[in-house]
Amino acid sequence: MRIVCIGGGPAGLYFGLLMKKLHPEHSIRVVERNRPYDTFGWGVVFSDATMAAMQEWDRESAAEIQDAFNHWDDIEVWFKGTRQRTSGHGFVGIGRKKLLNILQRRCEDLGVELIFETDASSDLDFPDAELVIGSDGLNSKIRNHYPDVFQPDMITRPNRYIWLGTNKLYDAFTFDFRKTDHGWFQAHIYKFDDQTSTFIIETTEEAYLAHGLDKMDQDGSIAFCEDLFREVLDGAALMTNSRHLRGSAWLNFNRLICGKWSHFNGNSHVVLMGDAAHTAHFAIGSGTKLAIDDAIELTRQFQIHGHGKDAIPAVLETYEEIRRVDVARIQNAARNAMEWFEVVGRRYADTLEPQQFMYSMLTRSQRISHENLRLRDKTWLEGYERWFAKKSGVAVGNDRCLPPMFTPYQLRGTTLINRIVVSPMAMYSAQDGLLNDFHIVHLGSRALGGAGLVFAEMTCVSPDARITPGCLGLWNEEQAAQWRRLVDFVHTNSAAKVGIQIGHAGRKGSTRLAWDGIDQPVSEGGWPLISASAVPYLKNSQVPKAMDRADMDRVKADHVRAVELAVTTGADWLELHCAHGYLLSSFLSPVTNLRDDEYGGSHENRARYPLEIFRAMRAAWPEDKPMSVRLSCHDWMDGGNTPEDAAIFAQMFKDAGADLIDCSSGQVSKSEQPVYGRLFQTPFSDKIRNEVGIPTIAVGAISEADHANSIIAAGRADLCAVARPHLADPAWSLHEAAKIGLTSIAWPKQYQAGKYQYEANLARAATAAPAK
Ligand SMILES: Cc1cc2nc3c(=O)[nH]c(=O)nc-3n(C[C@H](O)[C@H](O)[C@H](O)COP(=O)(O)OP(=O)(O)OC[C@H]3O[C@@H](n4cnc5c(N)ncnc54)[C@H](O)[C@@H]3O)c2cc1C
Ligand SMILES: Cc1cc2nc3c(=O)[nH]c(=O)nc-3n(C[C@H](O)[C@H](O)[C@H](O)COP(=O)(O)O)c2cc1C
Repeated sequence: MRIVCIGGGPAGLYFGLLMKKLHPEHSIRVVERNRPYDTFGWGVVFSDATMAAMQEWDRESAAEIQDAFNHWDDIEVWFKGTRQRTSGHGFVGIGRKKLLNILQRRCEDLGVELIFETDASSDLDFPDAELVIGSDGLNSKIRNHYPDVFQPDMITRPNRYIWLGTNKLYDAFTFDFRKTDHGWFQAHIYKFDDQTSTFIIETTEEAYLAHGLDKMDQDGSIAFCEDLFREVLDGAALMTNSRHLRGSAWLNFNRLICGKWSHFNGNSHVVLMGDAAHTAHFAIGSGTKLAIDDAIELTRQFQIHGHGKDAIPAVLETYEEIRRVDVARIQNAARNAMEWFEVVGRRYADTLEPQQFMYSMLTRSQRISHENLRLRDKTWLEGYERWFAKKSGVAVGNDRCLPPMFTPYQLRGTTLINRIVVSPMAMYSAQDGLLNDFHIVHLGSRALGGAGLVFAEMTCVSPDARITPGCLGLWNEEQAAQWRRLVDFVHTNSAAKVGIQIGHAGRKGSTRLAWDGIDQPVSEGGWPLISASAVPYLKNSQVPKAMDRADMDRVKADHVRAVELAVTTGADWLELHCAHGYLLSSFLSPVTNLRDDEYGGSHENRARYPLEIFRAMRAAWPEDKPMSVRLSCHDWMDGGNTPEDAAIFAQMFKDAGADLIDCSSGQVSKSEQPVYGRLFQTPFSDKIRNEVGIPTIAVGAISEADHANSIIAAGRADLCAVARPHLADPAWSLHEAAKIGLTSIAWPKQYQAGKYQYEANLARAATAAPAK
């Protein structure tokens, strides 16, 4: 086979050498526009897994690379006059030049033809090749020649960075955060050989422009950075090796995803590899790893399908199928890490204390969790747990410290014993809105199960405010009396607090019990609906009446009556439901609010009625008891609310006296396209908590202690609400404590025997588990 790799970066060179090694009959050319042994760039970092794969595939080059590697374990963060260090992180770094030189030499030894100083204009320059590899990097001409085939989706990210080097050697992966008059700058620094460290400096576009860096040449930028980072540089100079870049050397990262990776041009099969096909931000240092892993996988597919040209279509198809999964995973983690650095100045640097800032930074990709940090550096993590516990008012001794999710939390006059909330969940089991024995057993057992706060389902303010005929209500004394039974039971038998979520179904009302057809209108016994605008939820839903002022007054009075009744129940916490497309949510979302009066249009107008209700309720609720607001922080559709809008509303509720925002999302329209996944709504909570400066509840796919601990410890939320896992396991909190070996959490005294056995069984299972 005749193979041409266009671009002699890590992807092209490594693929060339592997294929030649495994099948010397192939004619392989690598065409590179630069001169031999000439490249720009400083050091790159690798993972242990990629190194292990390289050893398996080509021991010779792997040995040389390994020899040239610099290995380091520690991460050090310089922030607000502090220097904090943790260990166990395991990186290897190598100079990009050195890496390419090793690969080039190995190619030559094996008989790969290296053609330098040749700028290929397209794959059609090589009509005799059966296979053309587009390994020509981010600005790939090969890819750009077929935009309709490869469908590149390139997003230019807002931050600016400059990639410099220095001769000062650092013994840890070092991050230095510096505040200027115009915003924060951060340096990512790591040593990659005996003389040199990479020194990448990053900042926002605003800070970049405000400092005039766009008008400076490279020497000017270097002088600016040397001054800003003089402490960490300790007298060392910064150097550039990209003098070929004209004007400012500050770049924007481009995130690339391609719809397809291969194409047949009539003569040759063309396939993309490395940065030509996808990019991952340097915040997790994975670009070179991805390029190498691509080269290995493509080679592996030839080994599986055969080295004949007939095998090429099958090889390219499976290569893309397999690599896409890993690339998406890394891009996901890289995106989280990149976004962290994009917002670090306005979101974390000014608000978090150095200890929590460090924790937030270490877990920025959301791939490293609390328990993962424990494995990496137990001493550091335990020190952090002690710091966090002390901040939460726990007396810290020599025993195992309470992990973040089990620390208490105080708001106004209410203290929760821990940070776990049973999220509100409709049970559709009431009649005439009356709480009954089912609810007492259901909610009571979850209180016995160890959560700090137990919310009942959305509790409706009037009969026509219900979602279904089975929903709970609070509009009369008889209902309040049943609520008192529940609250008394919980307070007498557990340390949990009780929350009531007050709501009005709006246009999503008058529907069947969930198991009889969720969101489907009831066939008989329904009631008229109201909403912000006359927009039905489903095509076959009742068209709601757009509320007039008289409706608003009536519904406001209903909410206040519900609060007055709630006061008599002894409940500890009130939440106003402004999410999921129900009445108040229908005012907040532009998708459902089409009004042109003072209740529609701007944020201020859309929030006017929900805020009016909130204020009226807050005035009727005791001063020493907290009140939260649940928001849909993302409508997940074009034209709908985004997390930016949610932050604006959160600020308004904060100003109106809300104590906490419960950050949910969606269910506003059937056209939504949510992106689900582990902790998928936590970023909304993170944003609101740290940008608006109000406590939050994170909710959504939080299913184990490790998730909750990571969220609370990083300051992404103050509380974690857990819904479906509580349907599966009423004692979720107690069981999760046992699973992380925390035996100091008390179980109800009646259940003690069960506690010992449960813990003993877990311990036995752990010792019996085969060693990995
Ligand atoms: C600031 C910064 C820091 C980074 N840090 C890291 C890190 O720590 N770890 C990491 O793994 N990755 C890092 N990367 C990413 C890494 O540099 C790339 O992801 C990786 O080099 C991709 O390899 P590649 O072979 O696909 O492309 P490249 O390395 O870009 O190679 C492409 C080659 O093709 C050549 N070429 C382009 N067009 C033509 C043409 N028309 N004809 C002939 N030749 C052509 C180019 O000269 C180049 O040599 C970083 C990137 C940046 C910008
Ligand atoms: C059966 C069920 C009923 C629900 N009812 C309500 C409700 O009454 N009020 C509310 O705000 N959210 C309600 N939700 C949403 C949950 O409170 C929670 O936000 C969502 O299930 C995501 O959390 P999870 O991934 O832990 O389940 C309900 C969820 C379920 C599964």
